[in-house]
Amino acid sequence: MEQQQIQARAIVRNIGQLVSVAQAPIAGASGLLQVLSNAAIMVDNDGNISWIGADQEVDEMLACSEQGHVNIVDAYGCVVTPGFVDSHTHLVFAGDRAEEFHLRREGTSYGELLRQGRGILTTMNATRHASSEMLLDLAMERLASVRAHGTTTVEIKTGYGLNLEAEERCLRIINDLNCSPSLPHEHVRIIPTFLGAHSVPPEYHGRRAAYVDLVVEEMLPAFAELARFCDVYCEREAFSVAESHRILTRAKELGYQLKVHADQLSPSGGSQLAAELGAVSADHLDYASDTDLEAMREAGVVATLLPGCSYTLRSPYPSARRLLDHGLKVALASDFNPGTSYSENMQMMLGLAMSAMGMSLDEALSAATINGARALALQDETGSIEIGKRCELALWSIRDYHEIGYHFGTNLIQSILVL
Ligand code: NIG
Ligand code: FE
Repeated sequence: MEQQQIQARAIVRNIGQLVSVAQAPIAGASGLLQVLSNAAIMVDNDGNISWIGADQEVDEMLACSEQGHVNIVDAYGCVVTPGFVDSHTHLVFAGDRAEEFHLRREGTSYGELLRQGRGILTTMNATRHASSEMLLDLAMERLASVRAHGTTTVEIKTGYGLNLEAEERCLRIINDLNCSPSLPHEHVRIIPTFLGAHSVPPEYHGRRAAYVDLVVEEMLPAFAELARFCDVYCEREAFSVAESHRILTRAKELGYQLKVHADQLSPSGGSQLAAELGAVSADHLDYASDTDLEAMREAGVVATLLPGCSYTLRSPYPSARRLLDHGLKVALASDFNPGTSYSENMQMMLGLAMSAMGMSLDEALSAATINGARALALQDETGSIEIGKRCELALWSIRDYHEIGYHFGTNLIQSILVL
């Protein structure tokens, strides 16, 4: 046989089960998720997946080829999925809100705490008073945990600075995290989002229109190079539909992609707005009506569910089944933040989605990978193990992917692998 050079920078071998959605089904696999046993993946010099197939074929290829420098990674028979794409977090903040968590248990609601100037504003105070070094250190520690729980792409929002200087500081920290030291094969991709419209800060009390002016006229133009998305918290206790509309319209003109915190605590009109403005995703959706969902589907807005909030606020879980039945693309994200979801663990979100939101394992895994990527407009790059995509994997210390959700409350991830 003719000698041919293997055009691969790396080969991941000895994959017990490769589990991923695939637009073009991998030979020998079937179902919503493609499950391939005893598999291998080749990665080309640009870091893209160039081949997926049976591990034994790699032996044959290696035997009849002249080997260049190929890095062989042994997966030791474990389950391999795409790394999680966590499309909604508020990971840069100082302080904690444990006290509020316990107050809520005694009966004070999240909305009441917000109206008392606590909640988001408690974290804003702690964040404004923290040094940049402290904020970066805290964020790096959290990012290490994000990575250890299997996430390879994470969106991070600002929203605890709420003035020009502090929002910029947080955005720079988010961007710096992209370059924070990690082993190259454990690099987590960071997507920055500007969420200046998270709450009206106390210095604008009684002058909310002036704060919206500040967001629209100063912050948005200043941050266009630092953030990929603009998000607003469209809610009774936060920003009205009219205010959100103004902010998002300007953001779109400036080249931001859009997201909306929509219909979380009340029917706020946020998901309709997301549909009207062509947002990439609308998130929360606890109170979204059938008409809202229909509008989202027609506009192609991804529906992002955040089960950590229902868990933390002890509110009813929205039904993922209802959204799926509307034909929506449903993503799952952690919403990692100190108030409503203090967890960076996407395995926990999968478990909650399966036990309390009506999702099957295949749906939940798709929601946390490819649909997370869709919620960040990254579906052509990541979120599945397919030819042409980046090699961004989660290696699980399990032998069969059906253990996911079933074996709960423990970290089943061995490591992430980014090649
Ligand atoms: O997604 N709802 C608005 N933002 C966050 C909560 C932030 C906070 O309470 O600090 C959320 O739930
Ligand atoms: Fe959020």
